[in-house]
Amino acid sequence: MTEQTISTQQDAATAASNQRKVFIKTYGCQMNVYDSERMGEALAADGYQQTEEIEDADLILLNTCHIREKAAEKVYSALGRYRELKARRLKQGRETLIGVAGCVAQAEGEEILRRAPDVSVVIGPQTYHRLPEALQKAKAGQRIVDTEYAVEDKFDYLPKKERSAQPKNVTAFLTVQEGCDKFCTFCVVPYTRGAEVSRSRQQIVDEARRLAENGVREITLLGQNVNAWHGSGPDGADWGLGELLFDLADVDGIERLRYTTSHPRDMDERLMEAHRDLPKLMPYLHLPVQAGSDRILKAMNRRHTAEEYLALIERIRQARPDIALSGDFIVGFPGETEDDFQATLDLVEKVRYAQAFSFKYSPRPGTPGADMKNHVPEDEKADRLQRLQAMLTQHQLEFAQSRIGMEMDVLLEKPGRQAGQLIGRSPWLQAVVLDGAGAAIGEMVRVRIVDATANSLAAQRI
Ligand code: 5AD
Ligand code: SF4
Repeated sequence: MTEQTISTQQDAATAASNQRKVFIKTYGCQMNVYDSERMGEALAADGYQQTEEIEDADLILLNTCHIREKAAEKVYSALGRYRELKARRLKQGRETLIGVAGCVAQAEGEEILRRAPDVSVVIGPQTYHRLPEALQKAKAGQRIVDTEYAVEDKFDYLPKKERSAQPKNVTAFLTVQEGCDKFCTFCVVPYTRGAEVSRSRQQIVDEARRLAENGVREITLLGQNVNAWHGSGPDGADWGLGELLFDLADVDGIERLRYTTSHPRDMDERLMEAHRDLPKLMPYLHLPVQAGSDRILKAMNRRHTAEEYLALIERIRQARPDIALSGDFIVGFPGETEDDFQATLDLVEKVRYAQAFSFKYSPRPGTPGADMKNHVPEDEKADRLQRLQAMLTQHQLEFAQSRIGMEMDVLLEKPGRQAGQLIGRSPWLQAVVLDGAGAAIGEMVRVRIVDATANSLAAQRI
């Protein structure tokens, strides 16, 4: 061994022990998960290594959610806890920077600096490619708030190669669209994520190819209003999400496609055709309706009636008979009566969702709903939520049980809790547990379902 290599190794060892570490905590939706990965990559290019141990972190970064009050408050209680940690590390001569990213950062900006004196960087979802720059300033003692809607496209500035350096994942999220122009009266998204913006087809296809080259087999396209995606095709023609899905189905190595979250108003003919004609497009659709009463749907500014929604579901089921539906619901929107709530239960009974997410209405500052009259008392909201969830869980269980005896393909994603087990996903996004003998993560295997609970299926290979 030459001296040269010895000193290089020593340098590497010193660099490793000095390497700055970042702990990233993600709240909220899948888009935040995607954004946290991108921030991790931007920071890796800037010399930060990710750690799961918060005590080791030179930088604590919270990627936050503002959708309901509870989500936003979690951030402040976490920041309170980090105070002590920061002081403890300082006693050991180690500095800790704290950054707040995501939707609370966007919505509250300067307010965070006032409420949380230990925070030195507040960075919005549209500016996180400038995180390394903000951290430089923070290290020099400044407190930074960067929540402008950037004129440049963050995706052009984020590192691209590093995605291959990630541990191999079988599934991946891919943001195709951000923001929302629908302005549902309960929702902060148009304010936190801004107006609807679509990424270009080329950028999306390139990213899908890179993911496939890195071993990804299943891609979930993300957008707050994903089926509002629009772009231009190779010949300059206007494209919607349906066309994009046809294009992505041609990417070698990608075996499954999904997308979320959709708005009923943007389910166009071409998207139905994609469901009808693309075997790679999984038979599962998250299509929130929020409520079943036309009066409440109108007050929510959903721009469709319950009947229109049911008719749409009918058309989707004609295009893809085995499709499973998933939804979001809000109970106790201002003015919701027992009769209105009953209409939600009636709609749920008709659709029979395979999975659903339901919430008590949470008034969000700056949204029209917050200023409406006739807010529903908390205990009434809690009671309705419990009744709705009982019905949704029952339907979810029935859907799962209807899979028993069925043969299906399962994409294996990770080891199970017990030795020898592997966990994959059914086409309907259910977790499937099976004896993994002879199979490997990343493989698509043919199985028969032998048992089911509301949350997972048990399978045997055939
Ligand atoms: N209160 C309760 N739930 C909400 N959601 C959005 N805004 C609110 C709010 N103010 C729910 C909707 C949406 C999901 C992501 O969160 O159901 O589809
Ligand atoms: Fe939460 Fe909406 Fe922001 Fe996602 S986009 S993190 S759901 S506020």
